[in-house]
Amino acid sequence: MTAGRVGAVDGRAILPTIRTARLVLRAFVRGDLADLVRLDTDPRVMTYIADGRPQAPDVIAKALDRVLRYPTLNAMLGVWRASLRGSDAFIGWYSLKYAGRSTDIEIGYRLLPAAWGLGYATEGAAAMRDHGFGPVGLSRIIGVTHPDNLASQRVLAKIGMRDEGWGRYYDRRLRLFAVERPGASASAPARGTAERGARGRDA
Ligand SMILES: CC(C)(COP(=O)(O)OP(=O)(O)OC[C@H]1O[C@@H](n2cnc3c(N)ncnc32)[C@H](O)[C@@H]1OP(=O)(O)O)[C@@H](O)C(=O)NCCC(=O)NCCS
Repeated sequence: MTAGRVGAVDGRAILPTIRTARLVLRAFVRGDLADLVRLDTDPRVMTYIADGRPQAPDVIAKALDRVLRYPTLNAMLGVWRASLRGSDAFIGWYSLKYAGRSTDIEIGYRLLPAAWGLGYATEGAAAMRDHGFGPVGLSRIIGVTHPDNLASQRVLAKIGMRDEGWGRYYDRRLRLFAVERPGASASAPARGTAERGARGRDA
């Protein structure tokens, strides 16, 4: 994985562009709205996300606003637009950011169905993990999934995350996976945990 430098556009902080063997991950721009709409209006994509329903375009536009703002509030964290090397065609996104209102930082990903089953989720998620443990300096990163989202759980396991059972995030009971930075102790909290203190575990 190689990471570009962090810069600024119109005074706003941007995310570093990250390149893996097959992917280019870059910050979203306002002109990417149509790509996000294609992703989030697809019922196959949304099956295990939030209420399981495709999103309305106005909701997606507001989500893009939040995505654009996120790295300006949380340096080096946010959502990266993904394409294959050699093409700017959108295949989906990867994220490294706080898990809802909790203090834990999670890896996320959402790909167009045409890109499923090719190892791209694993490749991009590994790049998010390396960005988190490298430039961001995290000691622990989590992943959470709907209990039936076995493909996503497999991705998290393949990037070295341990199955930690259940956790409560986004006001839901979700499967929880976690990994510590090599050399960090297994009980090390995510950066910022003490200040925000909202992490909850379900029985
Ligand atoms: C989940 C998702 C990102 C997986 O993407 P992907 O590119 O197919 O993932 P990968 O190819 O890297 O790996 C998927 C793994 O899950 C396995 N898998 C796929 N479907 C599975 C299933 N139903 N049960 C068990 N394992 C499954 C694959 O075999 C593969 O593992 P393997 O390499 O050991 O064979 C993709 O399906 C997606 O974007 N879904 C919609 C959005 C979403 O659910 N995001 C996650 C929210 S937590």
